[in-house]
This record gives sequence, C-alpha cells and structure tokens, in this order.
Amino acid sequence: MFKTLALSSILALALGPVAAFAAEEAEGGEGEHANASHSSGHIEDVAFSFEGPFGTYDQNQLQRGLKVYTEVCAACHGLKFVPFRTLGDAGGPHLPEDQVRAYAANFEVFDAELDDTRPATPPDKFPANNGVGAPDLSLMAKARAGFHGPYGTGISQFVNGIGGPEYIYSILTGYTGKQKEEAGSIFYENTAFPSGWIKMAPPLSGEDVEFDDGHSNELHHEAEDVAAFLMWTAEPKMMARKQVGFVGVLFLVVLSVLLYLTNKRIWAPHKGKAHS
Ligand code: HEC
Repeated sequence: MFKTLALSSILALALGPVAAFAAEEAEGGEGEHANASHSSGHIEDVAFSFEGPFGTYDQNQLQRGLKVYTEVCAACHGLKFVPFRTLGDAGGPHLPEDQVRAYAANFEVFDAELDDTRPATPPDKFPANNGVGAPDLSLMAKARAGFHGPYGTGISQFVNGIGGPEYIYSILTGYTGKQKEEAGSIFYENTAFPSGWIKMAPPLSGEDVEFDDGHSNELHHEAEDVAAFLMWTAEPKMMARKQVGFVGVLFLVVLSVLLYLTNKRIWAPHKGKAHS
C-alpha cells in the first residue's frame, strides 16, 4: 500500500512538468520555449476525432474531405499511393461499392496492356500530380510534423501527436493575403509554412464546395475536413492499429496481475522467516 502510494506520487512529480511543457508547445511553440534549431511556422492545434489512444476517424468528415480534395486539390496534387478501392473500407470514408466504382471512373489511367488510357477502376490508384510543382499528398500528413520539442525530446509529439494534419490545416488557413514576385514566381505569405512564403496560391477561401451532409463549408471547416482526409490517406489502418494496441496492453495488464499473485503465493511460506 505504502509502496504504491510512493510510486504514484513519484510518477505525478515526474509527469507534471512534462504535461505542462507539452501544453505550452501545442500552443504554437513560438514563445520563448520554441525549439531554436528549426524555424517552424505557427501551427494551430486542432482537436481531431482520431487523436488519442481511442480516437477514430469520422466517416462523414472523411467523405467531406474527399470532396474538398476532389474538387479543389486534385487540380494540382496527386494521391498516387492510394487505391480507389480503399474509399470503400470500413475504417475510412466507407463509400458503397457502386459509388467507389463511379468515383474511380471519373479518372483516366494509362493501361500498358491496351497501350491507351481508360477510365479507372477500383483496383487502380489515384493519378499522380500533373507536374505543376505540387507534391503528392498521399503521405503528406505523416511527412510533416507540426509539433516539436521541448528541446528535441519529442515529448510534445507524444502527447499531442506529430501534428501532420494540424500542419496541413494551418497551411490552408495561414495565408495573410500578401504576395510577392521573386525570380518569375509568385510567393504567398503563409504563417504556417517554414519559410513564411509558399508557392501555392490560397486553394481555399471558404464556400468552395457544397457538402452533401449539409455541414458548414466555412474555410476552417473545409481545411479541417481535408486535413482529416489526408491523415486517413497517410494512415488508412490507424483504427486497426489502435485496436490491436489496446488488446495488447490489456493482455499485458492481466498477465502482470496473474504473475504478481503467483509470485506472492510461491513465496508466501518463506516470508518473514529470514531469521528463524
Ligand atoms: C493551383 C495548384 C494547387 C492547388 C489547387 C492546391 N495546391 Fe497545394 N501546393 C501547390 C504547389 C505548387 C505547392 C508547392 C509549394 C511550395 O513548395 O512552395 C503546394 C504545396 C502544398 C502542401 C505542402 C506544403 C509543404 O510543406 O511542402 C500542402 C500540404 C498542400 N499543398 C495542400 C493542398 C491542399 C490540401 C489543397 C486543396 C485544398 C491544395 N494544396 C491545392 C499547388 C496547389
């Protein structure tokens, strides 16, 4: 009893400052505690449904995000690692099979056997981007980290996540409206982009798409939805991973209790007899 009390107070002492640190970092990390080794922009923390050990994707949100991607981002950005069929997966947007087929058919793919293009089918992948200098977005939510530190320990990321979808959200909502021309290209000022100036014109301004579920299409909602969708493309099996992890931890807890009781029982006859 005494031992467990002591242990939990040690834990509380150790974790208190850690949690405080992490909360500070989540607020954008631009204050005095910002990690000096990288000059990151301002990243907004968004409370996504898939955060935390039990977080899950919101199916309606993924469908809305798919719509934003399709009607806006797809003009420049590819999703070349994502097969159309996964749009029907239960852990994802979960579109009915006929809708997946109809959606895929909107895209043309090159078929080496036909030596010609044909409408895409569910086993095909989304096309790659069309070469305007825009990066592929399949894994973008995992390729960028919104949260860092403190001091390179990664504790903030342990608590808040890597901040990939928050980074995408912050890019989409971080335009100041200023632009400049340099070496023949136009750059747009953006508070989230590390250099402060990005070559992507503001893709969203609010009310860019009509959502089928009647959800608000203000800028920050559209940005949140497409960021969630891109988290799903980057980690489509997140929900299965969390479930397996939970079962694993539960198993270890039960095993620990059994081993503790076994240990007590085995040593019971010898306890308190050291000097007799
Ligand atoms: C008109 C073309 C165009 C459209 C439409 C467009 N983008 Fe971009 N995007 C670009 C270009 C070009 C870059 C590269 C910018 C740079 O490196 O300065 C880029 C870069 C990005 C980046 C990467 C930033 C980084 O850290 O490298 C993200 C994320 C992004 N776009 C998301 C989106 C999303 C989400 C949409 C749809 C809502 C979208 N883009 C629509 C052209 C576009």
